[in-house]
Amino acid sequence: MSTSRQTRQVYIETYGCQMNVADSEVVGGILKTSGYSLTEDLAGADVVLVNTCAIRENAEQRIYGRIGLFGTYKRRNPGMLIGVLGCMAERLRLSLLEDDLVDLVVGPDEYRKLPGLMERALEGEQGIAVRLSRVENYDDITPLRTDGVCAWLSVMRGCDKFCTFCVVPFTRGRERSRSVESIVREVVDLSSQGLKEVTLLGQNVNSFRDGERDFADLMQEVAAVDRTMRIRFTTSHPQDMSGRLIDVIAGEENICNYVHLPVQSGSDRILGLMNRTYTVDHYRRLIGRIRETIPGVAVSTDIISGFPTETEDDHRMTVDLLTEIRFDGAFTFKYSARERTKAWEMEDNIPEEEKGKRVWEITELQHAIALEQNRNLIGTAVRVLVEGPSRKSPYEYTGRTETSRTVVFPHADEQPGEYAEIRIDRANSATLFGRRTGDVSGAAPQSLRESAA
Ligand code: SAH
Ligand code: SF4
Ligand code: F3S
Repeated sequence: MSTSRQTRQVYIETYGCQMNVADSEVVGGILKTSGYSLTEDLAGADVVLVNTCAIRENAEQRIYGRIGLFGTYKRRNPGMLIGVLGCMAERLRLSLLEDDLVDLVVGPDEYRKLPGLMERALEGEQGIAVRLSRVENYDDITPLRTDGVCAWLSVMRGCDKFCTFCVVPFTRGRERSRSVESIVREVVDLSSQGLKEVTLLGQNVNSFRDGERDFADLMQEVAAVDRTMRIRFTTSHPQDMSGRLIDVIAGEENICNYVHLPVQSGSDRILGLMNRTYTVDHYRRLIGRIRETIPGVAVSTDIISGFPTETEDDHRMTVDLLTEIRFDGAFTFKYSARERTKAWEMEDNIPEEEKGKRVWEITELQHAIALEQNRNLIGTAVRVLVEGPSRKSPYEYTGRTETSRTVVFPHADEQPGEYAEIRIDRANSATLFGRRTGDVSGAAPQSLRESAA
C-alpha cells in the first residue's frame, strides 16, 4: 500500500433505494481495505463517487445535475476523479464516459474492481466495469457502517420478476441469495457492536432462498441472535408473502410488526399489464391475513399512477382500494417509461399533467388517512428505539416505533440505541410528538411490542 494511496480521500454520495445505501457501505468497506479513506468534504476529495438510481427518469435527471456540480469542483481541482456507480452506470454504460467529467463507470456487481480502476484512473485512464454476475453477493465484505443504532443488511440481490415497468432486473441482474450462515454471522457482529436494529434488504427480499431454507427460516434465525435487537425487512413482493412468513413475523417478538407490500394499482387489468402476478382480491386477502395474524401491524405500499392505458376508472379503483385498506403509508409515483422494459413498447399515453393530478389525489387521500391514524395515537404510550437528536433541535430527540412512525420528544438522558416509552400528545401526518413516561431500557423482548397504555 503506497502512502499516497493511504491519504486519498473518497467522497461518496448515494441515491435510490436502501440497497444502494447498503452497497455504498460495501464500497466503503472495499476502499478502506485498499487504503483509501472516506470524507464528507466534497471540495477536498480526491475521488467523488456517486451511487446512482435509474428507477425513474427524474431520478436520473437529478444525478446529471449533481455530476454537473461535481464538475465545478473538478475544474478547481483538476486531479479530482468522478466515478458513477450503481444502476445508472449499469444502464447507460459507455455513454456515461462520453461526458469528459466522468472518469469511472462501475455497475453494482463490479465493486471489487474499484480500487484497481481508481488507481489507473488516477493515472489518467478512464475505466468501466459493468458486467452483471449470477453469484456476486459481497458476503465476505464487511460494510463500512457509520450509524451506531440501525444497520442495513443485503441478504439477496437482483430481481427475476420482470414487472413490465421496471428497470431493476436490467440494472441489478438475476436473483441470488447469501448464505444463512454468513448473514447470521454478520448479525452476531452487529449485535456485539451494540447495534439495535437490522433491516434485511433485497429487491424481493422474501424470495430469498438458501438451499432448503426460505426467507421465513432466515428471519427466524436472525431474530434469535439478539432479542433486544429489532428486525425489519424490505421490500416484499405479494407473490412471495407466504402464510408461514406472516406467522414468523407474528411469532417472533423482535421482528417489527410492519410490512411494506407494494400493490402498484387497484385495477386487475393494469396489474395484468404490469405483470404483477396477483389480483387485487388476492392482495386484499393477503392484507386481511397479515392484519389478523400480526397484532398492531402497520402496512404500507407503493403505487404507480399513469401506467400506459390507465383510465379514470382504473385510477378510481386504486383510490377505492386505498380508502378501503387504509394503509399506514403509501409512496405514489408518476409512471416513467424505462428503456428495455416491456412497458417501454407500450405507448406512454397518459399526459404528465394527468399523471400529476392522479398522484396528487392519492397523496392527499393518504395524507388524510395517515393524519387520522396518527391522531388516534394521541393519549397512548408507544415504545421507540431512540435514534438521536432531531433535525430541528438539539434539545429534542427522535425515535421510531416498531411500526416505523417517527416520534419526537424532549431530550433528557436517553441515549441512542435505548428504548423509551413516549406518551403521544400531538401528531401530524408524518410525525408524532410526546414526552417520556416510563424508564428507558435495553428493552426486554416483551416490552418491544407497541402498547396502548
Ligand atoms: N422491488 C420492489 C420495488 C422496487 S422499486 C417491489 O417489487 O415492490 C420501488 C418502487 O418504484 C416500485 O414499487 C414502484 O412503485 C416504483 N417504480 C418502479 N419502476 C417505476 C417506473 N418505471 N415508473 C414509476 N415508478 C416506478
Ligand atoms: Fe422491479 Fe418488480 Fe422486481 Fe420490484 S419485483 S424490483 S418492481 S421488477
Ligand atoms: Fe434505484 Fe437501482 Fe434501487 S434503480 S431503486 S437504486 S435497485
